[in-house]
Amino acid sequence: MSAGAPRPVWHVEQAADNRDVGSVDLTWNNGDVGQFPYVWLRDSCLCPGCYHPSALSRKLRIDQLDVGIVPRSVRNDPDAQEVVITWPDGHVSRFPHDWLGQRQFTPQQLKERKKEQAGPRTVLWDRAAMEHSLFKVDYKELLGDLSVLRETLHRLISHGLLVVRNTPIRFGVVEEIASRLGHTRMTHYGKTFRVMSKLDANNLAYTSETLSLHLDQPYYEYIPGVQMLHCISQHVGSGGENTLADSFYVAELIRQQRPDLFKLMSAMPVEFDDVGVEKEEDQDCRFHKVQEHTVFRTDGEGNVNQVCFNNPTRSYRLNVPFDLVKPMYEGLKMLHDLCMEKENHMLYKMADGDVLVFNNRRVMHGRRGYTVTSDSTRTLEGGYIDWDEILCRYRTVSDLLRRPSMRR
Ligand SMILES: [Fe+2]
Ligand SMILES: [Zn+2]
Repeated sequence: MSAGAPRPVWHVEQAADNRDVGSVDLTWNNGDVGQFPYVWLRDSCLCPGCYHPSALSRKLRIDQLDVGIVPRSVRNDPDAQEVVITWPDGHVSRFPHDWLGQRQFTPQQLKERKKEQAGPRTVLWDRAAMEHSLFKVDYKELLGDLSVLRETLHRLISHGLLVVRNTPIRFGVVEEIASRLGHTRMTHYGKTFRVMSKLDANNLAYTSETLSLHLDQPYYEYIPGVQMLHCISQHVGSGGENTLADSFYVAELIRQQRPDLFKLMSAMPVEFDDVGVEKEEDQDCRFHKVQEHTVFRTDGEGNVNQVCFNNPTRSYRLNVPFDLVKPMYEGLKMLHDLCMEKENHMLYKMADGDVLVFNNRRVMHGRRGYTVTSDSTRTLEGGYIDWDEILCRYRTVSDLLRRPSMRR
């Protein structure tokens, strides 16, 4: 069930103490029966002695919990809409019907809760789909309207790509957008970074050359989740467009066409590293990051939820057995080349004031080369936000729009 969708309200018709199983069995108003283990009920007591109402946290310590506990009595209170349990030491727990109804152990609810926790479902796209449906949001509306913020976060989670338009033409906008969507994630390139051609560049992004498709900073264990690129000044003339491709979509093509390579890239890690110096005002920041990741990471159900690909920072140490070296290259090349097929990637030339916001673990991005002239300098400011913060903001905003108070 996605946040905001109507959900059923649960009422208990009958509460029975099932000593054989060690559960309280509740008959719901729709006729279904939900079973709740004794130990979970004791652990979940909502009284102020067991649960802190302002910290919204469990106070009951696990050393105080008797895993083999059996209630003294169980009854339904239909007027209060509560199930009342008295424990052997006289402690009384009262559980609202609907609260229990949302915490059942049925396979269906376990599945639904997993889906709800993951947030909006992933929508895969190719060039035609994204050209048709690229989400564009106005900067002032994003900052001022809660439902626009929720829609933007939803879209970022489901499609992984959107554009914020009409932003001020100055540095600092990236941080403002980051604080609306979550908050900025620091890396060794700083809180934000400026993309323009620099002399003695310490990163290929800081040149005017074509940048092939990649995902940023895979040499972190916790790879930056979302990337923002604010166009302060676009290159006038040809070049400077961003190339954008959905690697989750392409991963599914590889799974269908070359299951052997899909399997290999889901199992064998590739090493990435980044070594250098970032010059800062007060002191230089030396960096030396090394991290291994599989190219495809899948969740418990086999869905791809992270892709790692970055050719410039792919290590010269390929830590795979000798006979897997060539297949690994076949896989890496297939991923890149499929993303570069005309029907699988889109081109977007940002206008001054545009901010591209995209899932940095999913949306392969690159840039067409351009020629630097005296009257045109392409300048971008970029930054990152971690997925934890985006999903957190999505939940809190959904809660605020749905109901004024929150509860665990
Ligand atoms: Fe990048
Ligand atoms: Zn209690």
